[in-house]
Amino acid sequence: MISIGALELSELQKIRVASAYLFSLENAQDDSFLENLNLSTIKSAFRAKAKRYHPDYHPDAGTDEIEKRKERFVRVEEAYRVLRSYVPEIDSTPCATTKQTPRIIAVGGAKGGIGKSIFSANLAVYLAGLGKKTVAVDLDLGGANLHLYLGETFLQFNINDFLNKRVSNLEDVLISSKYGPLLIGGDSSQLGTSNIGFSRKLKLVRAIKEMNADYVILDLGGDTSFNVIDFFLTADQGIVLTTCDPASYLEAYNFIKVALFRKLSRLFGTESELRKERDVLLEKLIEEFTQSPSDSRFKVVNELMTEVGEKHHHQFNLLREVVSCFSPSLLVNRVGSRCNVPQVVKRLQDVSRKMLSINLNYLGSLPQQTEIEVSARNLTPMIKSHPGSMFAQSMQNVAKSLIMN
Ligand SMILES: Nc1ncnc2c1ncn2[C@@H]1O[C@H](COP(=O)(O)OP(=O)(O)OP(=O)(O)O)[C@@H](O)[C@H]1O
Ligand SMILES: [Mg+2]
Repeated sequence: MISIGALELSELQKIRVASAYLFSLENAQDDSFLENLNLSTIKSAFRAKAKRYHPDYHPDAGTDEIEKRKERFVRVEEAYRVLRSYVPEIDSTPCATTKQTPRIIAVGGAKGGIGKSIFSANLAVYLAGLGKKTVAVDLDLGGANLHLYLGETFLQFNINDFLNKRVSNLEDVLISSKYGPLLIGGDSSQLGTSNIGFSRKLKLVRAIKEMNADYVILDLGGDTSFNVIDFFLTADQGIVLTTCDPASYLEAYNFIKVALFRKLSRLFGTESELRKERDVLLEKLIEEFTQSPSDSRFKVVNELMTEVGEKHHHQFNLLREVVSCFSPSLLVNRVGSRCNVPQVVKRLQDVSRKMLSINLNYLGSLPQQTEIEVSARNLTPMIKSHPGSMFAQSMQNVAKSLIMN
């Protein structure tokens, strides 16, 4: 969304010119069209224009024609850059009403060893088996091992080649993995690989969103660092894994809370991406709430919303939508005979509703299965090595409900 009323005249003109290039003259003059522009609309328009004008798409055109197309493409690119700078990276239309391509699914949960990578690998193999172009991305930058779960021991390219600018396109580091999905693997053996800075992270997030695929699965690291949380917030659908172990579901709750607070902070806090609608008092309020909740005046999100409703009502609707649309999915893994799944799910749903005012979706559960260790050792995903197993069956059910949502 672009807040037209808050713009300087020169900025508004810049936006109109860019919209004329990327959309049409009529659209450029239509204020309500401009007000409703969002990231995905801008991206799809850019893709369509790039196809029309990029010289690489028209290798048979004559020299004059190629020159004209090049010139036009430069303007389209510039228009895209301008419009992007006016819409926030985290879209302020919080509930996606249409399914984007690629559909990005992030797999997180703050605890290590709970099965995030095993699940990511099997999910990617399942989706690829349906004939969907699926990319599995190892975003556990400090502990990359997704490639092993996908049967690959040697990576000709990895994500560091893109992050360190050895290649310019993320698609250049894609490899075809043995069991179907495309893979962007990681290599954590180099010093400092997990400490990527803000601009490299932004570049990576943009490249992921622009990938040509049906599904992109992001396998995240097991912590709540800004990078992990920002990758999680990039997704159209965030899955939080837990086991029945109390330490694990406490970590799952912490992960969800930190992700929501980060989202609020990126929208309304001092790092706000809605710069045109800056509200300094609200920024302070959000920082107070998200960064020092123990001595904050507000203990739960609902109290924060009441205050915003009273004192910052112009931002209240957006805040309410952001909170109500933040709805991660919960997956319980390693379920054994003594695990009471409904109880774990209810506890997490109750505390999320009470403290954070959010609804946590229950996605499903996966059994504890000893063969998983064997399949991991043999570098073969369970749904290939043991297709009839309980784990593989549950995996399929979870994947089916995921793609139906
Ligand atoms: N359902 C399951 N049944 C039995 N073992 C499992 C199951 N899920 C995962 N495991 C085992 O747990 C171990 C850790 O799994 P995985 O690497 O997927 O965890 P992770 O959450 O990605 O950890 P990290 O945060 O360290 O990357 C593996 O050795 C795997 O064999
Ligand atoms: Mg992992």
